[in-house]
Amino acid sequence: MEYIRRLFAQNRDIVADICKHDPEFFAKRANKQEPHFLFIGCADSRVPIETLTGVAPGEMFVHRNIANQVRSVDLNLLSVLQYAVEVLDVEHVIVCGHYGCGGVKAAMGDQSYGLVDHWLAGIRDTCARHEMELARLGDDKRRFERMVDLNVLRQVHNLTRTPIVQSAWKRGRRPMLHGIVYDIHDGLLKELVMQVDGNDRARELLTTQRDSVGG
Ligand code: CO
Repeated sequence: MEYIRRLFAQNRDIVADICKHDPEFFAKRANKQEPHFLFIGCADSRVPIETLTGVAPGEMFVHRNIANQVRSVDLNLLSVLQYAVEVLDVEHVIVCGHYGCGGVKAAMGDQSYGLVDHWLAGIRDTCARHEMELARLGDDKRRFERMVDLNVLRQVHNLTRTPIVQSAWKRGRRPMLHGIVYDIHDGLLKELVMQVDGNDRARELLTTQRDSVGG
């Protein structure tokens, strides 16, 4: 019980601290949100993006699932994406992976984990597509990190193929899509692919991935 009580105590302290600087902070945000970002990240407890980037409540719309997947059959993700793009009109959609991702690691092995195997099928597919490149990397740590990167790039690509992003781009050059990785070892974010804002950039992204298979 002591862990759950701690949440309430910390919440009161944080709210008191915010209101000390701006007594109207919560009242001003109660009836609207105008976030600039949609963040799609892993459910892993070590990736609390708001804490890591210092964004305030109201600045970032967030969707998290195991291994930051963007799947065309995931109604939860698609509903979040549609609302963020068509109603909130976010400028940026960020897919964020992280090193040490248990979902990616599970998908790289042969062991079966039950239900989650279905969820991880797309990562197994990415792993198979890049088998030659991964085999050439010297050690398991580098292979694992490269797969985390490739998984993010794949999900950015999947975003570009959604009707939601396609029709948004027909109306203009937003949202901009970005692929980034969080390194749980040092706490820092790394850029993988930035500013994908139309089909030309989307094709470039795909070519880069294909080239890395052969080269
Ligand atoms: Co993860």
